[in-house]
Amino acid sequence: MEEQTPKKVMLSGIQPSGDLHLGNYLGAIKNWAERADQFDCFYFMADMHTITVRQEPAALRRRTLEQLAQYIACGLDPEKNTLFIQSHVHQHAELGWVLNCYTMFGELSRMTQFKDKAARNSENINGGLFTYPCLMAADILLYQPDYVPVGEDQRQHVELCRNIVQRFNSIYGDVFKMPEPYIPKAGARVMGLSQPENKMSKSIPEGCIFLMEKPEDIQRKFKRAVTDSDTEHCVRYDPENKPGVSNLMNIYAAVTGKSLEAIEQEFEGAGYGKFKPAVGEAVIETLRPIREEAQRLLQDKAYLESVYRSGAERASYVAEKTLRKVYKKIGFLPR
Ligand code: TYM
Repeated sequence: MEEQTPKKVMLSGIQPSGDLHLGNYLGAIKNWAERADQFDCFYFMADMHTITVRQEPAALRRRTLEQLAQYIACGLDPEKNTLFIQSHVHQHAELGWVLNCYTMFGELSRMTQFKDKAARNSENINGGLFTYPCLMAADILLYQPDYVPVGEDQRQHVELCRNIVQRFNSIYGDVFKMPEPYIPKAGARVMGLSQPENKMSKSIPEGCIFLMEKPEDIQRKFKRAVTDSDTEHCVRYDPENKPGVSNLMNIYAAVTGKSLEAIEQEFEGAGYGKFKPAVGEAVIETLRPIREEAQRLLQDKAYLESVYRSGAERASYVAEKTLRKVYKKIGFLPR
């Protein structure tokens, strides 16, 4: 009989701190959904990470469930992927604590996300915000993944996780598998439509396209997208001098699968007046089935509950194996 090699493992998560947007979709989820058959996949709602910034409890509950519905609507089949809520798998907090003790103050001080968030929330620079990458490393390492599919902004955290693996394994032997960041070619860094020098994020809603947004609102945002102040008004890829147009081209490339050269040819001589609504339309048609399916799933709370319950059960089974190994290595007496 032919022997089956085990599938490689993929893992990633998103914080339900805001509604999912096009950056999350193109930078992360789209990439996940396309690989569900090839890999053994774990995807979660990173609710524990969200409380590094104060959250409204009812809104956090609502968004966590909505995020699960959106994951499924984006093509993550719960039969093929393990979908779970981070706080339901207690091993994350436990390994997170251990990894805190194997991560250096200096390393954490260099994290750009910490510096950004600390600057934006100067009244609440808490310990969790600072040690957040240790919890993220625990999220990853519990499942011994080969790949961590994320957008460009999370690369630094995955690199820190790799440093932790190296430090830990050099003391205790091969405990953790070394994970690789898996960053898409198109869509790794979607910029805001109103301020193309900043990444698309929920904190600037006028430049952010949300997955559940109405088509007319999406089209309005694309029509108002900031292009460039140059006089040539042509659709040409030049991120340095034409960041707005280049961002729209990247979005169009990511949703249609067309190359940047093909896009330049398609809109040759057409000007922005034609280009911007075309990108809007392509995005609307990509998001339409996702929105409709997510709305349908949200009517069936019992189904969503059954998905996250069985997801947590399976995740916990895998996570516990790693946690036991770690506890044994560091010298904790078994229960
Ligand atoms: P988060 O919740 O900020 O973002 C989730 C995912 O979306 C990607 N992303 C983007 N990609 C392209 N363009 C954008 N404008 C854009 N904005 C967001 C992010 O790169 C990310 O992949 N710490 C993580 C969540 C997390 C995690 C993990 C990820 C917690 N534990 C373990 C991987 C593995 C975060 O805050 O991502």
